Amino acid sequence: MEHVTAGNSFAALAYLVAGVCFILALRGLSSPATSQRGNRFGMIGMAIAVVTTLVTHLPMQGVGLVLEGPQGSVVATGPLFARIDIVAMLEILAAIGVGAVIGIVTARRIAMTAMPQLVAAFHSLVGLAAVLVAVAAYLNPMAFGIADMVVPMIGQPFAVINPVSKVEMGLGAAIGAITFSGSVIAFLKLNGNMSGKPILLPARHLINLGTLAAILILVAQFAHTQDGWPFWVLLVLAFAIGFLLIIPIGGADMPVVVSMLNSYSGWAAAAMGFTLENSAMIITGALVGSSGAILSYIMCRAMNRSFLSVIAGGFGAEAAAGGGEAKEQRPWKRGSADDAAFLMQQAEQVIIVPGYGMAVAQAQHVLREMGDKLKEHGVRVKYAIHPVAGRMPGHMNVLLAEANVPYDEVFELEDINSEFAQTDVAFVIGANDVTNPAAKTDKSSPIYGMPVLDVEKAKTVLFIKRSMGGVGYAGVDNDVFYRDNTMMLLADAKKMVEEIVKALD
Ligand code: TAP
Repeated sequence: MEHVTAGNSFAALAYLVAGVCFILALRGLSSPATSQRGNRFGMIGMAIAVVTTLVTHLPMQGVGLVLEGPQGSVVATGPLFARIDIVAMLEILAAIGVGAVIGIVTARRIAMTAMPQLVAAFHSLVGLAAVLVAVAAYLNPMAFGIADMVVPMIGQPFAVINPVSKVEMGLGAAIGAITFSGSVIAFLKLNGNMSGKPILLPARHLINLGTLAAILILVAQFAHTQDGWPFWVLLVLAFAIGFLLIIPIGGADMPVVVSMLNSYSGWAAAAMGFTLENSAMIITGALVGSSGAILSYIMCRAMNRSFLSVIAGGFGAEAAAGGGEAKEQRPWKRGSADDAAFLMQQAEQVIIVPGYGMAVAQAQHVLREMGDKLKEHGVRVKYAIHPVAGRMPGHMNVLLAEANVPYDEVFELEDINSEFAQTDVAFVIGANDVTNPAAKTDKSSPIYGMPVLDVEKAKTVLFIKRSMGGVGYAGVDNDVFYRDNTMMLLADAKKMVEEIVKALD
């Protein structure tokens, strides 16, 4: 099978339009108000890129030419004429169809709380795709147009791959393999199939650096000689290092890791885009690579952690090793839905702080109803969103938007934190770590340094969770539970808010 390129200027223009659509998509996704439009731009861009690639790289079948030398040896082969390879075309369309069905079914079925592991699983596929493209290009370089055929006087003709393509293939395959095995471990940790605890090997930094250096040397060796062994060995080492890089990283750093793997998958795709001379892949890969890296940086800043310390791993090892801190035996106050309704009705301003528990309980719709009722009673209602509340970036924004909470009532941490001190009620629903004052004061806490919402400064804190025994993601106790101005509302978040709504009626 051979690929014949046609209409290159048309393809360049179409890929440029697709690239612009992807940029508009990223821009749209930066705010809940424009995210749907952003998604549509992304879909249009991808449709343009896929159709253009299909039309300009139609799979062709050469028919005819074989030049024979003395004693039947093959001197040269080539197509006399070419026709569309229908079987290959059907295979491509069938693969697109199967992928589309899997995507649609998964998107419809997936629970919002399982989104981070789904993203990790999809990244692993991007990594694997980059590896498979590199392997295919290595095994059949002529089909990818990256080699020159050398016809020796004696013996079989053989393909010599361009050195630059060999570097791109080596790097693309290595980044793809790291993305694949790293994403599989991230998926297993996030999905609960593997413990979220950091697994710390002795001398792991030395092992990791040594392996990375070995991979780079092997890429150089492969580019120099085109031998098979450096290519296959670098692939095995890259799969291993993806695994080694992610096992020491604890659960609390997983969001950064998922976004970092997202970035890697983009760079792997961009590297393969150079090999395939496909500008749409280069543009898309670079956009995914850089947006993933920027998101990782933003999340690190939100958790007050340096990117290097996340990659070095080990965060949360102490808390996880002890199975979480021992629960304190301190007095705390329990309240009812009626108490909560009474307190909030009297308030001038209520700030609602949603967290992961709201997502688990799917309490966002009834929460908006509660907000509406409070507004009918003349109470000013605001929502405070912590950048890493929930289990994925923008998790709370998505849920509140789904429940039609007005955007102008939703505030980011830095815009609302100073208001808690002048607020009558902070209503914490299923959030825990993002409200934990230990992050500000306790240097031994695994979340020390993470900016948190100052809920304890409100006159009253109403705190919904199911039991005093449950801990948040980082596995640590929260001093807010035991403060004089806190009233614990122990129940499933949705049930509790339903009862509060009834009480407000
Ligand atoms: P968490 O600290 O995980 O706390 C969740 C709280 O919800 C717990 O107190 C839990 O207590 C309660 N809860 C769970 N199910 C509930 C239900 N059905 N009804 C009522 N309460 C329920 O959540 P958070 O404050 O949103 O903090 C997020 C944490 O996740 C941070 O540590 C962050 O670093 C990490 N993380 C964030 C992300 C991103 S990017 N957002 C991704 C991965 C990890 P009970 O069990 O007692 O009910």
